[in-house]
Amino acid sequence: MARELGRGHGSGKLILCGEHAVVYGHPAIALAVDRGTRVTLSRREGPTTIEAAFSDPRLRPALCAVLPEHGLTVHIETDLPIGRGMGSSAALAVATVRALADWRGEHPTAHAVFASAFDIERVFHGTPSGLDHAVSDRGGVVSYRKGPAGPELTPLPTPSWRLVVLDSGVAGDTRALVAGVSARRPAVDRALARIGALVDAARAALHDPDALGPLLDENHALLQQIGVSTPALDRLVDLARRAGARGAKLAGAGGGGVVLALVDDPAPVLAAAARAGVPAFTAGVAPTREDR
Ligand code: MEV
Repeated sequence: MARELGRGHGSGKLILCGEHAVVYGHPAIALAVDRGTRVTLSRREGPTTIEAAFSDPRLRPALCAVLPEHGLTVHIETDLPIGRGMGSSAALAVATVRALADWRGEHPTAHAVFASAFDIERVFHGTPSGLDHAVSDRGGVVSYRKGPAGPELTPLPTPSWRLVVLDSGVAGDTRALVAGVSARRPAVDRALARIGALVDAARAALHDPDALGPLLDENHALLQQIGVSTPALDRLVDLARRAGARGAKLAGAGGGGVVLALVDDPAPVLAAAARAGVPAFTAGVAPTREDR
């Protein structure tokens, strides 16, 4: 067995509100979830190779944006659904950067992890906002904005409501979806600005499900308007609302992926999903960098 050189972990994420608009400088609220990805580096002869239970032609070029091209086995384990808007690539990016730091005996700052993980995320997604890997590294619940001088990250207190995640079973292509929204500008600019305003309202209403639920519903309607929802996602949103969710929306880039439902009690939404044959689970909030 090859000697282990270093290991690292990155959390997955859910965007409570603000996806796509965040690419254009509007705020978003996201949480790191209690699922994630572990990367283990070990020595091998020859070109760096990737061991993972899933395949993706972008994996090697993305990881070799920060890792050496030769001499490593990169072993990846994850309990995140891949390509479903739960930040699987960002979790992988953060885990890889941390594994590299572990190998070198370094303790990188959040700023250093953000910068290196961005190099990986750009290979996967083109022009991401940075939200996914910022929250993956930070943990907890955050408000994020892409500022001119770098990411503006504000920690928010963890709320007491619960989230149920419903999986459409279809992967979305973040790069293509972000490019699609860009191509529809300026026609979608008003909807993007409205999403930004809604995020500010959601931040004020974060601990009040009566106020927050309708804002999530409105966010979903705006994501429909900018063309990133699908009939399957709309059906999952409807299923969750009928089962008593306070609000529900697609989460992430859309085009597939997952829907999140804000609930007081997960049981009725989980039961309705099971009856419909839809994979669903509750998502907890991952600890913050300081609490880890
Ligand atoms: C993807 O998880 C979130 C998007 O807003 C893209 C990004 O922020 O880079 C759609």
